[in-house]
Amino acid sequence: MLTQANNALLCEVAPGKPMHETIRRYWLPALPSAALAADGDPARVTLLGEDYVLFRDSAGQVGMLNERCCHRGASLCLGRNEEGGLRCIYHGWKFDVRGTIVDMPNATDDSFKRRYRQPAYAVREAANVVWVYLGPQDKTPPFPRFPIFDLPQDQVVAQAYFIDANFVQVMEGLVDSSHVGVLHQDAIHQRMKAAMQDGAQSAVYRQMADDLAPRLEMEDTEFGFHYAAMREMRTDSGHVNVARITAFALPFINFSPNNSTMLAGVPVHDGCTMMFEFNWDWSQPFDAARRERVLEFHGISDAILDRFGISLATYGKQERPRAANRFLQDREAMRRGETFSGLPNFQPEDVAIASSQGPISDRSVESLLPSDQAVVRMRRVLLEAARRVMAGEEPPGLDCATIPRGLQGAVGSDETWQAVLTREDNLRRSFGQFSSELKVPA
Ligand code: FES
Ligand SMILES: [Fe+2]
Repeated sequence: MLTQANNALLCEVAPGKPMHETIRRYWLPALPSAALAADGDPARVTLLGEDYVLFRDSAGQVGMLNERCCHRGASLCLGRNEEGGLRCIYHGWKFDVRGTIVDMPNATDDSFKRRYRQPAYAVREAANVVWVYLGPQDKTPPFPRFPIFDLPQDQVVAQAYFIDANFVQVMEGLVDSSHVGVLHQDAIHQRMKAAMQDGAQSAVYRQMADDLAPRLEMEDTEFGFHYAAMREMRTDSGHVNVARITAFALPFINFSPNNSTMLAGVPVHDGCTMMFEFNWDWSQPFDAARRERVLEFHGISDAILDRFGISLATYGKQERPRAANRFLQDREAMRRGETFSGLPNFQPEDVAIASSQGPISDRSVESLLPSDQAVVRMRRVLLEAARRVMAGEEPPGLDCATIPRGLQGAVGSDETWQAVLTREDNLRRSFGQFSSELKVPA
């Protein structure tokens, strides 16, 4: 439970709010790289309640500028992206990726070009996504050292979509292991069945479906925290403790226990989040068919996102999950017993739930359980970061030596769950959509 004041401090991200000032101190994902072609259309992006334009110039460099032209405020999203810069179509001022004015047709005195500049931001491309830094220039943190950034591009699948909900409740769903066996039970049961047909071990899925009240254990880290959902798994030779470990990295990045999924819920404004989901393979590239299978499994194929009106191409242009349309839930299919949730597996289920909690969930009227401990920890870590920024201190997790990892594994009788994080052969192995094996320590 939170007071109304703390709930506002946690969730409100408009300019001037403490959480706005906090989040802009980190590198943020802004747009899939594929959305920007050299000399192609500029893209409008809203982050933390402010509007920007992104474009890729003739040399392939990405620029991120304020949307409003510094001359008299026309939108640069209307601009022409040509020959090394973005030209405002009102009076023709042209800006390069650093915001420098390279052409100013309505001035005869060249010195005006040097007098003004368009606010521009630091940009990096990694894991097929454009990342930006919106904070003070002299405080630019090092780029995060996530292992996914070292993989070849074709071993990473990145997808982005919108959720009509505040980023905190979106991220709460990702540090909440106890909902997986309920809300996502259709997917879990399908995986169990597929694994059994394969002759493979389906114990990982069975254990999630069977044990809906995992014991949670947590540890604060440099980047945020790790938490382990501990469940007892039945095997042929008895019982074994299994830890599903999730990492939460400030300000809103989640590493799933499958060790092959990272999710980042970027606040667009108080009531809207842009979710970036990265899936990767440690050892081999995705071909088109497997890419599609992975996206399909997570419920984020282009077809599903388009149908739900939450893809980059469709958001705001058609129906999308909201109370008036029952969050696009298929009650007929539920009545026929074909589905538990009435929604496509995984992300569409999470999207509907997060939207159903309202733009900002009222945390002063909750009824929490021990299984919500990681949710509470995430709020505490975020609030602590905001309080530090308000006090004029540096927020935590800007420059981490510790690598955040999501992992799952068996915990030996004389071990703690942290042993799973250090076992070398766990580190570059994926679970979930690629394999259902689970190594039990000798
Ligand atoms: S408003 Fe952009 S050039 Fe005048
Ligand atoms: Fe979920």
